[in-house]
Amino acid sequence: MDPRQSNAADNAIVVRNLQKSYKDFKVLHGIDITVRRGSILALLGPNGAGKTTTIRILSTLLPPDGGEAQVNGFDVVNQACDVRSSIGLTGQFAAVDEYLTGEENLLMLGRLYRLSQADTRRRTRELLEQFDLVDAARRPVRTYSGGMKRRLDLAMSLIAAPPIIFLDEPTTGLDPRSRLSMWNLIKELARGGATILLTTQYMDEADFLADWIVVIDEGKVIAEGDANSLKSRVGADHVDLTISADSNFALAQQAVDGVQFQANPEQRILTIAANDGVTTLRNILRRLDEAQIEIEGLNMRRPTLDDVFLFLTDNGSHEHAKEIN
Ligand SMILES: Nc1ncnc2c1ncn2[C@@H]1O[C@H](COP(=O)(O)OP(=O)(O)O)[C@@H](O)[C@H]1O
Ligand SMILES: [Mg+2]
Repeated sequence: MDPRQSNAADNAIVVRNLQKSYKDFKVLHGIDITVRRGSILALLGPNGAGKTTTIRILSTLLPPDGGEAQVNGFDVVNQACDVRSSIGLTGQFAAVDEYLTGEENLLMLGRLYRLSQADTRRRTRELLEQFDLVDAARRPVRTYSGGMKRRLDLAMSLIAAPPIIFLDEPTTGLDPRSRLSMWNLIKELARGGATILLTTQYMDEADFLADWIVVIDEGKVIAEGDANSLKSRVGADHVDLTISADSNFALAQQAVDGVQFQANPEQRILTIAANDGVTTLRNILRRLDEAQIEIEGLNMRRPTLDDVFLFLTDNGSHEHAKEIN
């Protein structure tokens, strides 16, 4: 369901026309985001898009230059304390004390949050269990793997059971297994009622986790929707054509000029959106044939979120977005 059309009371986070510059360099050009209570929203964008800047503003670590943002009904500028007690924040790089054990890290943080001793013990035990860190609880964190550190970092941001959780690239740098266990933890937190705003560069992550996806590039929202609606915006079917190593890839690109396509020179793949079934495909095959380009493989498939992102952000291909006859 479109969060932009929901009641104000249903929204955990509302961001309107958010702007930010570092000196003369404008990095957020008026961003709008609405996150419904109890949902997962993914802010999807490449490196440098402005994801961390947005998260830092929403978690009161950085003041905005313009626009407004409410988190849990509180203004990030005028009610920063209330915002801070509503959120848990996990950054791209784990902020844990390497010389303490996992358990000590959690106990220390509980005291910092002024939980009672009994509550601190209880939360620490619960979190160690939930995050599969019981066996490692009494080992110094410096002996943990990357995945374990990231899990502990997330556990620490949850010590005071905040209703809203910010996750800045929660799986960047993790191996596939740790990544999957992080995904499951995030889903579990949402099932428990938390509202989650996460940032990611990975389409599959947004696709798997998010109820709503906001795509940003160069500090602007360029698209939003649920995974299915974003996929359908890029057309019905995609065709991957693998160009033979004996043929010139640049020539193949020239031959299909005028069609909406994406090129992947390393893998020698041209991806074409075939919205009209076989008509476009037939034309392309004819053109490649005329240019004496050999095709090694042809694969027709549903678009992935990856395609959505490429088609939305690759400036080059927009000029090619006309049909051929
Ligand atoms: N403290 C800073 N001073 C100057 N420029 C910055 C600073 N932090 C980030 N930037 C720039 O702002 C842009 C957005 O950065 P960031 O929000 O970190 O993007 P993302 O998290 O999407 O990779 C980038 O071009 C980055 O180089
Ligand atoms: Mg970042």
